[in-house]
Amino acid sequence: MEDDPFWLFAAWWREENVPMVLATAGPSARAVVLEQFDERGFVFWTSAESPKGRALAADPRAALVWLWDGRQARVEGRVEPVAEGENERHWQQREGKRQIAAFRQSEPVESREALLRWLAAVPEKPKRPPFWRGYRVLAERFEFWIADENYIHDRYEYLRSGEGWRRRRLQP
Ligand SMILES: Cc1cc2nc3c(=O)[nH]c(=O)nc-3n(C[C@H](O)[C@H](O)[C@H](O)COP(=O)(O)O)c2cc1C
Repeated sequence: MEDDPFWLFAAWWREENVPMVLATAGPSARAVVLEQFDERGFVFWTSAESPKGRALAADPRAALVWLWDGRQARVEGRVEPVAEGENERHWQQREGKRQIAAFRQSEPVESREALLRWLAAVPEKPKRPPFWRGYRVLAERFEFWIADENYIHDRYEYLRSGEGWRRRRLQP
């Protein structure tokens, strides 16, 4: 097993970019796009005014889950906003239609027609609303689960310890 959990995650991620599930206090979970990661943690963008944005404001901790065929990766940790400059950069490279999720996320809508009417009034290239924000889940704990055909699955936990990581095997 690797000494660095990010290295192992990166190897699995290179094989296949699977969806990332984000769990926040509530409890509440949903998929978000993993836009970038480095040795600090995992970054996604969303509306700070959405239910998940509000949950993170009240309790800035999260858990992440990825599933591959026969494998699972989990991460837990505190959540920090990304630097303000990164928000604008990300907004500019997000294509027009994907910017729509920034507005009124998770508010009830009367019908698809009402949604399309509202959409027609939104400028093609809207300015970034201040509540469209990147969040970094600071990885404090990783877990990797690898299926075994005889159900003696391998599980490895990594806990941050000083500059490095402490690894141990877990009972399946
Ligand atoms: C594959 C996939 C990727 C998604 N990516 C994002 C994303 O990057 N940001 C986002 O705000 N919502 C994303 N969504 C929508 C969220 O799952 C969710 O419906 C929305 O953010 C509202 O969540 P909330 O009500 O818990 O705040 C994605 C959904 C799917 C299925």
